[in-house]
Order: sequence, then structure tokens, then C-alpha cells
Amino acid sequence: MSKLIVIPGITGAQGGSVANAYLKSRGWKVRGTTRNVSSESAKIWKAKGVEMVQANFDDINSLVAAFQNANVIFGVTDFWTIFKDEESHKRKKANQDITHYCFEVELMQAKNLADSAAQIPTLERYVFSSMANASKWSHGKFSRLYHMDSKALAVDYALSLPGLQEKFSQIQAAIYYNLPWEWGLPTTPQKQNDGSYNITAIGSGDAPIPFLDVHRDFGSCVQTVVNAAPGINFFASQNVPHGKYNQVPLEKFEELLPGGLGREFGENVLFAQQFGYEGGDPVVRPRELGVKMTTFRDYCDQTDFSRIL
Ligand SMILES: NC(=O)c1ccc[n+]([C@@H]2O[C@H](COP(=O)([O-])OP(=O)(O)OC[C@H]3O[C@@H](n4cnc5c(N)ncnc54)[C@H](OP(=O)(O)O)[C@@H]3O)[C@@H](O)[C@H]2O)c1
Repeated sequence: MSKLIVIPGITGAQGGSVANAYLKSRGWKVRGTTRNVSSESAKIWKAKGVEMVQANFDDINSLVAAFQNANVIFGVTDFWTIFKDEESHKRKKANQDITHYCFEVELMQAKNLADSAAQIPTLERYVFSSMANASKWSHGKFSRLYHMDSKALAVDYALSLPGLQEKFSQIQAAIYYNLPWEWGLPTTPQKQNDGSYNITAIGSGDAPIPFLDVHRDFGSCVQTVVNAAPGINFFASQNVPHGKYNQVPLEKFEELLPGGLGREFGENVLFAQQFGYEGGDPVVRPRELGVKMTTFRDYCDQTDFSRIL
């Protein structure tokens, strides 16, 4: 009999990659959740044979219904959906930093996912997409890396739940290769007079930064975590040497990307270079479980950059 994986966030980068990996695997059925089952992306997954159901991370009843009969659940929350939502700016407390509000909401949503997964008797593995606890591992130096700490605290919460702790593993996604050039950031390569390209970025050009081809590799990483014993903290990354670029300090990066975005992104890089992107807990790396990751060279060879050239 087929097993069932339920994928909240299937219309996104991580969930989509997980779904593609499982759709190629014999013996698995895939159910995806979305806030809008009529959206174009929901229809595309339906056409690929995925059972699409409506669920909202804010609504625990919708999650419990969506998770029924699951053998595996892949959980991911999206800090940036909350950040971009105009309603968030209305709902946050008057003096509250928007990024702190997003931290509170993302943590609450991740707890809803964990509480719902804990109620599913058929569940064998819950894999949650986490990040390092930046406040803890930087000893308070980076105490406002809210998109990281929210996910780290969600791990602590999941591990506190009887019925879930022994089925739980986490996976940390490194920075997506497409983020610096597809997200409209200052890191988008700019053509110079001499025909070369330069990017504006933060941090030391000498320190490697962990990257990931989220579309090609993340799904097989999650599959590997599912197949391994529980209790894993898997770091889905392929280090890339930083190289030469127009290096700016954090204050300048924040000016270029105002509203909290520049600080979250900029401090994320600084934290990674000073304390390690994945934090201080022991992690399992792809090569230890025989997972081959797309190199930066291969990513570049296989990617159409014409939009920015
Ligand atoms: N970009 C990077 O380099 C990077 C690196 C490491 C970690 N991350 C983390 O990855 C996370 C985002 O994952 P992603 O890149 O896969 O996201 P994404 O591509 O932006 O997709 C977001 C997904 O979340 C779903 N979603 C958002 N809010 C929801 C809600 N209230 N209820 C139900 N579903 C909701 C969306 O579904 P519908 O719209 O269909 O409802 C969509 O499938 C972020 O938290 C980020 O911090 C990113």
C-alpha cells in the first residue's frame, strides 16, 4: 500500500522541490496544502497528480484535517509572506518592529504545524524546515535575526511535544542560489563599463557562504532525512567561495533594503561568517548521507541569466 506525504507550502520553493522528489518515487502519494486551491499553482500540482487541500498555518483545524492519514509531513513556514502582507503592518503593536511581529506570527504558525502533526496517529516522520538560533549561538550579538530564531524556537517546541519528539527531524536550508539575483536585491549583478559584472553585498569576500539549489536538491535532501533515523539536524548546503564584490557595511545594506529586510538579510550573512550559518548544534551534512548537491559551477551552467545580463 502507498504511503502518504503531506506537504504544506507545496506551491513554494521548498515544498515544491519535496513534492517533485516524492512524485518520482514509487509507493508514495502526495497531498499538498495551499490557502487557495483555485490558484494557478495549485492547479499545476493537481494536474501532476497531487491531492490539493485548503489549509492555513493560522488555522489549526484546517491543518489537522489536511494531515489525516499522513505517514510523513514536511513542515515549512514563510517569514516573508508575513513580512510582505500589508495586514501585518496594521496588526502589529504600535511600537513593534515589523520583523518582531513576523517572528511572533511565524513561531505561532510553526507551533500550529507541530501541534497538528502531533495529533496524527499514522505519522512516522515530521521533518521541519528550520534555521539556527542566532541569538543563542552568537551569544546575543545577533539578537534580532527574527527569521532564524522563530524557526529555531519552533524546533524546541516540536521536541517538547510527546507524540512528536520521537518522530521529529529538522532540515536547514542554506541560502538559495537564485536569491542574490532573482529577488531584486542589491546583490543583483550590475554590468560595469568594462563589460564585467559586479554585485553589492555584505560581509567578507574571503569567507565561504553556504548555498543551495533549492529546486533541484532540497527534495532529495528531505527524502534522505525521512529515510534516516529521527533526531537529525540536516544542513542542506553546498559552500560557495564569496569572491570579489562591492562590499558595503550593514548600515549601507539597510539603507539599500529598508524596512527590516536589509538587516535580516545582512545580519544573516554576518552571523553565518562569524558563527556558522547552521549554528552550533551538530548537523549532518549531505556527503555524510551520500547526497550529491548541485555545485555553483553546475548551477551557473544550467541557469538562464539572460534576464539580468
Ligand atoms: N530564500 C532563501 O535563501 C532561504 C534560505 C533558508 C531558509 N529560507 C526560509 O524558507 C522559508 C520560505 O520557504 P519557501 O522559499 O519554500 O517559500 P515560498 O516559495 O515563498 O512559498 C511560501 C509557501 O508558504 C505557503 N504559505 C505562506 N503562508 C501561509 C499560510 N498562512 N498558510 C498556509 N500556507 C502558507 C504558500 O502557500 P500558498 O500561497 O499556496 O497558500 C507557499 O507555498 C522562509 O521562512 C525563509 O526564511 C529561505
